[in-house]
Amino acid sequence: MNDALSKLAGRRPTDGMLALAQDIAENRQREGLPQSSVPAHVYTDPGYWQREKAAIYDRMPQILCPSALLPDPGMTVPHDATGRPLLITRDKDGIAHVFLNVCRHRGTRLVEGSEVQCTKRLVCPYHAWTYSVDGRLLALPRPDTFPDLDKEEMGLIELPSRESGGLIWFSPNRGGADFSDIEKLGEDFDALGMGEHVLFRRKTHEVAGNWKLIMDAFLESYHVTRLHAKTIGPFFKDGITSGDMIGPHSRSAVGRLEDMEAIDLTDMAQLRRVVTFAYQLLPGALIIPSPDYINVMVMMPQAHDRTLVEDFMLIPEHPTTDKARAHWEKSWALLDGGVFASEDFRAAELGQQGLESGAVAELTLGTLETGVRRYHETVEEALRTAN
Ligand code: FES
Ligand SMILES: [Fe+2]
Repeated sequence: MNDALSKLAGRRPTDGMLALAQDIAENRQREGLPQSSVPAHVYTDPGYWQREKAAIYDRMPQILCPSALLPDPGMTVPHDATGRPLLITRDKDGIAHVFLNVCRHRGTRLVEGSEVQCTKRLVCPYHAWTYSVDGRLLALPRPDTFPDLDKEEMGLIELPSRESGGLIWFSPNRGGADFSDIEKLGEDFDALGMGEHVLFRRKTHEVAGNWKLIMDAFLESYHVTRLHAKTIGPFFKDGITSGDMIGPHSRSAVGRLEDMEAIDLTDMAQLRRVVTFAYQLLPGALIIPSPDYINVMVMMPQAHDRTLVEDFMLIPEHPTTDKARAHWEKSWALLDGGVFASEDFRAAELGQQGLESGAVAELTLGTLETGVRRYHETVEEALRTAN
């Protein structure tokens, strides 16, 4: 673990990260924040979810996975949870692609399953049309029987995608996509060294709650010492927090229960021991850097009250000793199973159950929960822009 941490030493946080850390070091409370609210129907109305799906999840750039899922050229992985059969690949030059996982011959699903594979060629199980991992149609049996076929035109259908800061994003909109906000985020993720991390574990959770209820649990620090009292709560100061926006995405920081006096905040390894950052990305992804590893969580809503969340744990390097492996296993069990599944996601499910009763027309938000209100405004803005 200490080796892993030392890889961060000397890395400098971005100016934005530093500003938040200084707020926390100086215990600068934001004055005059208002109490606010969010209407309950945005979580419980299936029609509202249909509008969000059309305006947001069928349109906006969104994260599929960390780069570390496909570390090497020739790797491919099917991805189905966005509601379309996707195939993520890394070609021989190391470029990531996102294709529809569908053979151009007669529309058969090309690659089965959901595991990462390493291959040079993708062969359709039906008639063996063969594609390369960069999407080109390489060969087909009995080409003499397709006198009018232009192989160049029959490559896999590619969706716009972008790899930045250690994350692979795609846009469901075949017509094109604006990835400009992503580059700005990439500066922070580069400072965290996310692109150099390796994947330790991944798991998809099925949560019986609206996708925004899950995001809400990561947009305020009010619950941290309470909901997480038996796990990570004791590591944090209560409500010592700061936050800002990077384009439409939120960045927040919470003070850990450590003395900040002697800390050099411009050194990433030291900074991460005293402040925990979190990134709440539109439409629904969370990046949580703990002191020595990073969790990436991707929301994939299936209905107004059901969300798949894929959690990826990234570590600075592959463990080479049993001791290192045991250390990361413990962290994975604590965060993925203990904190996220048994606490944050459970709170989202309990929220769904309570709100479906109609007992509460509006959720009341205190001044430590303004991040929730701000996030909902961004979602509402996306809905307005789409209409
Ligand atoms: S459907 Fe794929 S080769 Fe025929
Ligand atoms: Fe939490």
